[in-house]
Formats: sequence, structure tokens, C-alpha cells
Amino acid sequence: MDTAPTIKIAPNNSAFHILAADIFMGAINRVAAQDGPIRVVLPTGSTPLGLYRELIANHVHRRDLWDRVHYVALDDYAGLPPDDRRLFSNWLDRDILGPLSIPSSHRTIFNSAAPDPSAECARMDALLDQGGIDIAVLGLGTNGHIGFNEPGSAFDAHTRLIHLSVDSLEANAAYWGGMDHVPHTAYTLGLGHIMQARETILLVQGTHKADILQRMLHDPVSPALPATALRRMRNVTIIADRAAMSAAEPFPRT
Ligand code: PGA
Repeated sequence: MDTAPTIKIAPNNSAFHILAADIFMGAINRVAAQDGPIRVVLPTGSTPLGLYRELIANHVHRRDLWDRVHYVALDDYAGLPPDDRRLFSNWLDRDILGPLSIPSSHRTIFNSAAPDPSAECARMDALLDQGGIDIAVLGLGTNGHIGFNEPGSAFDAHTRLIHLSVDSLEANAAYWGGMDHVPHTAYTLGLGHIMQARETILLVQGTHKADILQRMLHDPVSPALPATALRRMRNVTIIADRAAMSAAEPFPRT
């Protein structure tokens, strides 16, 4: 059965980031009501950058919460040395984890240079099986991917090494100065673990996401469009701007 996500629409760019920060902090506070770590998945990409700036500007003083946050990597390029600036773990270190002083002992990241990728995937899965994801913050790929769960990814997929689709290679080329600089393989958590998250926040901005957001909300739920998995998940909030919602049909929203 489909579970309707809650859709929040922000009227402008700054409202989008403030709304995202408010909803994220609400989720953090709910999880914090119970003892233990707060396991949070955070995405790279251009969409969450305003959220990260907002958290650093206005919520950095919440040490009571940040000291309990454990970052869990969603995905990362494979085969790069630990100090490569393209690694998503290093990107997020620069943009959010470092500024929030999340210690390395509270970061579960991929070892991109692992000699045995299968063992590396099994290591991540074992860690996720010990303690699942509390809050997943996600972006939406223009091809409907979630993390690097590209079209065709099974909903029960585990952590694995994937080959980036042409869409993802092109999207990533923008960050690293062209296609030649984008690794072709990456690790990704599988939808099987992501779908178990207690709360999920999907960030979607821009007219270039309008068609895929409309399809995510209304196409049949299927691995052909991995983001439709969110309609099978609990406690999903989609934060969209008006441009991203411009192709959407009426849908239950608050
Ligand atoms: P974006 O990436 O935030 O840069 O649009 C989203 C994604 O591809 O998951």
C-alpha cells in the first residue's frame, strides 16, 4: 500500500533552506527523545547546501544534539585515496560535518580504496544491521535515483558497488570540471536499508526536477524509478520549491 509522503512547498530559495532546517531539527529532536546515537544519512549535491549553511548558522549551538549524531554515508566514489577532495566523505566534512564538529569516531564512511569491494559492502551492511538509519536526508536524481541506486535497483538491494549511469556521470561532471574527472564506479547503500529509515526528508529544487518529481509521486511504484520507493516508506517529508512542483498533479499535502 502506498503511504502518502507529506509535501511542503517553499515559496523561495531562502524559505526552502529554513524549512528544511526546521524539519530536520524537528526530526533530530524526536529521535533524541530516546537514548542512544542519532544515526543520520546526509546527501551531497547542490540541493542540500543551503540546509547545511542554515544548520551551521542557526543551529550549531545544539551540542546536546550534535554530540549524539552519527553520520552514515549514503554513497561515495570507489577507488579514490582517502584524501581525494572528490570523495563525498571529504565534501561533507568541508560543508557540514567539520563545521558541526562531528568527530571521525561518529562517522561511518566508505573506504573508497578498499582492496576488496565485496568485503567493504559487507562491512557497511553489518554496521547498518547493528543500528539502522534514524533520519535519511536524500536528494532526487534527475533519473530518479536515490543515493546511487540507479534505475533498476531492487527495493531490497544491499550495499554494493555500482557503475554510474550516464545521467549521473553528467550530473557529477559539473562538480569536478568535466566527465574525465568523475569516477565511474561508486558505493551506495541499498534501498533495502534506506527504506527502513525512521524518518526521511527528500529535498527537491528546480524546474529540471519537476518531471521526475511528478513521476516519483504518480508513476507505478517500481525499481524502474527508484525514488518511488519513498511511497513505501514511513514518515517521509518532501520539501520542494514551486519550480520543482510545477509539473505536479494535485496530491495530498500539508
Ligand atoms: P542535486 O543532486 O542536489 O545536485 O540535484 C541530487 C542527486 O542527484 O541525488
